[in-house]
Amino acid sequence: MTEKDFIPTHYSKRNIESVQEGKQGKTVWKSPSNIALVKYWGKRENQLPANPSISFTLDSCATVTSVTFTKLKNRSKTFAFDVLFEGESRPDFRPKIATFLNRIETYLPFLRWYNLRIETSNSFPHSSGIASSASGMSALALCLIDMENDIAPMADEEFFIKKASFLARLGSGSACRSVEGDIVHWGYHEKTKGSSDLYGIKFPYAVDDIFKEYQDTILLVDKGKKEVSSTLGHNLMHGHPFAQRRFEQAHTNLDRLHKVFSSGDLDGFVDIVESEALTLHAMMMSSRPYFILMKPNTLEIINKIWAFRKATQSKVCFTLDAGANVHVLYPKMEKQRVLEFIENDLVAHCEKGHYICDRIGYGAKKM
Ligand code: DP6
Repeated sequence: MTEKDFIPTHYSKRNIESVQEGKQGKTVWKSPSNIALVKYWGKRENQLPANPSISFTLDSCATVTSVTFTKLKNRSKTFAFDVLFEGESRPDFRPKIATFLNRIETYLPFLRWYNLRIETSNSFPHSSGIASSASGMSALALCLIDMENDIAPMADEEFFIKKASFLARLGSGSACRSVEGDIVHWGYHEKTKGSSDLYGIKFPYAVDDIFKEYQDTILLVDKGKKEVSSTLGHNLMHGHPFAQRRFEQAHTNLDRLHKVFSSGDLDGFVDIVESEALTLHAMMMSSRPYFILMKPNTLEIINKIWAFRKATQSKVCFTLDAGANVHVLYPKMEKQRVLEFIENDLVAHCEKGHYICDRIGYGAKKM
């Protein structure tokens, strides 16, 4: 598929115009966050990834967004919308949403004919240092494509999901991996059937049952706002001395992960996932300007996980996103002992002792 396939042809400007002024509708979607195993870091024009990535969709870390849309008399010169976050008006959210609406207007040409009231809230605390852009942009994309469905119904559910992921990507790259579950691949990869830079797809091959109920406990090491935005970090991969080699490595790690998923080889899983996390941060540390997002407590936790694994033969491992928080990943059968380990040894390194228990999930839902 190409970008053009997402430009609607089943309705025209005249169809949009003919909707009665003041006609109102509402759509509500809940979309989860996701955690990448092979990381997306580096992008090209139009939110296209420099390398393919893969993630576990999460379950309880999610954003609920509603869009109430009211038909205007005429096409508005600028986008007409209000944003409320957890019940309060948030003008500071407007620029990001305006950029998003601009990027997607070609694919949702009715947008300027409506006033949008966007209300959004997260299941996780706002000041948790957890990025809400994946769940937030995915939930908003789903609301807007659902709105299109309301104006001009489309029959094909598969296409609906693809387009939702395509639109979410234009809001935030990783958001395209939050529409579906439980394992989502994004970006062209020779050995992944149906893979595309334009949208995420459900991992298309058989996966060993051990990965079906994987757990993710997120240790909140630093609840502050990110010091360096992902967008800035991605841009620093342009001209990065190791970028090309890193992009190739992501392809190889995906090849290896395919084997790990089918065989259930947890040692292989640990090796790929931890190496990806550290490589992501190594890219940040070796870009110009260079920066470090890990905190002393991030390293304390990593070292304790390694010591615990050595002492117990546990298959617990960690991954990081673009921040100091640590995602602790482990199979369900280890839940009790890993949670004990977290309580006894790791909680001391979390800000105010806070952590969030999550697990692999099955994608966004209409409410
Ligand atoms: C480190 O998707 O937040 O979490 O496309 O600029 O919105 P933008 O970036 P974003 O980057 C996520 C980077 C990451 C790795 C990943 O999720 O694959």
